[in-house]
Amino acid sequence: MKIVNTIKDLRNEIALQRRNDNKIGFVPTMGYLHEGHLSLVGISRQHSDYQVMSIFVNKMQFNDPKDYTTYPRDYDRDFALAKDAGVDLIFLPDDSEMYQNRLTYVDIEMMTNHLCGATRPGHFRGVLTVVAKLFNIVQPDVSVFGQKDIQQAVIIQKMVKDLDFPVTIIVAPIIREPDGLAMSSRNVHLKGDDRTNAVVIYKSLQKAEELIHQGIVQSHTLIPAITDIITSGKPKKIDYVSIVDYETLQPIETLKEKSVIAVAAFFGPTRLIDNMIVEKRGEMYTCVY
Ligand code: PAJ
Repeated sequence: MKIVNTIKDLRNEIALQRRNDNKIGFVPTMGYLHEGHLSLVGISRQHSDYQVMSIFVNKMQFNDPKDYTTYPRDYDRDFALAKDAGVDLIFLPDDSEMYQNRLTYVDIEMMTNHLCGATRPGHFRGVLTVVAKLFNIVQPDVSVFGQKDIQQAVIIQKMVKDLDFPVTIIVAPIIREPDGLAMSSRNVHLKGDDRTNAVVIYKSLQKAEELIHQGIVQSHTLIPAITDIITSGKPKKIDYVSIVDYETLQPIETLKEKSVIAVAAFFGPTRLIDNMIVEKRGEMYTCVY
């Protein structure tokens, strides 16, 4: 596994692979890798020949400076895990390599100013801008994103479509801890009761699935039921419980062909997110979470 720090070195490596007709797979990350990140590499390998992973804690997407400084980092551990997962090349740029007097940005205001964007102004602008840059730097054939960050995955699919990036986006399943908590680099900040109580987020999605299978498809019934379960775990605060259309991310009153139930809540100082994709096939609803 090679590790490069500059755009120039990365492009040289990619050019070599292209000359050998290798399809490039790309998994962008902010490091502190866990099984969720590594599962994306596994999926990317099924669709491409040469695996690139970026590790870049992107300051531009942190609206809270403390969240940026305390974001966990352990590059040596990341290198070992990435190598085992089959990564061929790590791109580990520093801030100055990525951002020198940057004035341009990418945003989709209509899709980024609510859900996670409502309490994290500028977050998705930072995400879209860095992912657009990374796509131009790596020029992958395939890039894999986790359903865990569903708003991110959907807006990246929209950006790729709107701006004609020649890359196929794959959305990968959520990898969970044994009790159901979605894996996240930020879970290391969860201590004591907060960690055990956080399982209510997963339980609230299970409850939603149960209700949907009983024929309850109205947001005004589903949202309070989900909220009740999360409340039972004594979160510091519930940020949102929303039901939105998958394509547009706009709130809906009744489940559509493809919908997302998305939740965000604080347990102690840690903000956790989770979601479920609900697809309607005929009169049947399938819930993926
Ligand atoms: P990061 O939080 O490191 O996540 C990198 C990728 O791993 C994202 O696509 C995310 O959805 C996926 N992921 C995280 N937890 C997961 C889980 N439990 N199961 C499956 N996939 C999971 O997301 C980012 O970094 C950044 O915003 C980035 C896209 C790299 C831009 O800076």
